[in-house]
Amino acid sequence: MVTLALETSCDDTCAALVTSDHQVLSSVVSSQDEIHAPYQGVVPELASRRHCENINPIIREALNRAERSLEDLTAVAVTYGPGLVGSLLTGVAAAKSIKVTRDIPMIPVNHIEAHIYSVEIENSLTYPYLSLVASGGHTVLLEVEDQDNYGVLGHTRDDAVGEAYDKVAKMLDLGYPGGPHIENLAKDGDPTAVDFPRPTLRGSKRWGWSMKDYDFSFSGIKTAVYYYLRDHDDIDKADVAASFQRAVNDVLVHKTVQAAQDRGVETITVGGGVAANTNLRESFRNRAAEKNRDVVFPSRTLCTDNAAMIGYRANFISERAGLELNAQPRLSEFTHKKLTEEKVVK
Ligand code: KG4
Ligand code: ZN
Repeated sequence: MVTLALETSCDDTCAALVTSDHQVLSSVVSSQDEIHAPYQGVVPELASRRHCENINPIIREALNRAERSLEDLTAVAVTYGPGLVGSLLTGVAAAKSIKVTRDIPMIPVNHIEAHIYSVEIENSLTYPYLSLVASGGHTVLLEVEDQDNYGVLGHTRDDAVGEAYDKVAKMLDLGYPGGPHIENLAKDGDPTAVDFPRPTLRGSKRWGWSMKDYDFSFSGIKTAVYYYLRDHDDIDKADVAASFQRAVNDVLVHKTVQAAQDRGVETITVGGGVAANTNLRESFRNRAAEKNRDVVFPSRTLCTDNAAMIGYRANFISERAGLELNAQPRLSEFTHKKLTEEKVVK
């Protein structure tokens, strides 16, 4: 049984072939970074047009790499939200045409859920685990009970952490996507040079960790960087990048590890594009070891957007979509699970 999975929620056109026993036969990602780089952010109109041009060649490439043909497919899975509406529609329309021409089931996949469970593709994990999804569109902390059940502990209240990386990179004129540029520049900088705030870590002396609330906020750090750049003449960009990176990563690491302790959960997983950040991975490993927790990351190609995670997630979804399936740009992470209310921390 082979599923063709499609992911076009933002600016990467992705197709993968995944078997029902979770083997990833191929995973192709066509990045649009060059198109959006001059604007230092994703231009939705350009993204959808590019998906339209790319989707067929990318599907063909995924089939070729897996040495399979359209006739071998037993299902098609597609991200239907959340994301940019024009981008999502390209994937949904392509999935529908494959469903109709091949007469196979179509499986609707929630992009955030795919990031959550992406860590399981390469690692065998024991439930429950605590999951942090840190991407360009989302920052969410969850307790995962199994493939059907999870509870949301906290969200970002404003910018997603990847969005903060992208906006700070824009202020520093580094290019898009911002995360990898900041990470590179930060290698030459001093992370203690500028004491940027750690919003939502409050309580004791400076930032403290008296957090019964697991929400995040990143727009304040971004604004602090803006004022720092505005008010100082001799700026060392590497110091700013390193200090910003340390500040946001501190928030992610401390809140998540604290949540694991509060909830009595042994294993922490981190997914989404920001999980590719080396400094974040190291900080998580150090802090988790101090607190006797395990922390697990997907390999970097499974952190950023890809269709392998869509195919993997589809293997656990019993729902089948008809031709009325539509893009849902504001789909939340509450779609497919039976939420156990007592697991939700308000
Ligand atoms: O998961 P993803 O590919 O797409 C969304 O679902 O949003 O995440 C993209 C985000 C971008 O904001 C990008 O700057 C960030 O992930 N990112 C990174 C790194 N690589 C990608 N942030 C920090 N360090 C990185 N190495
Ligand atoms: Zn994503």
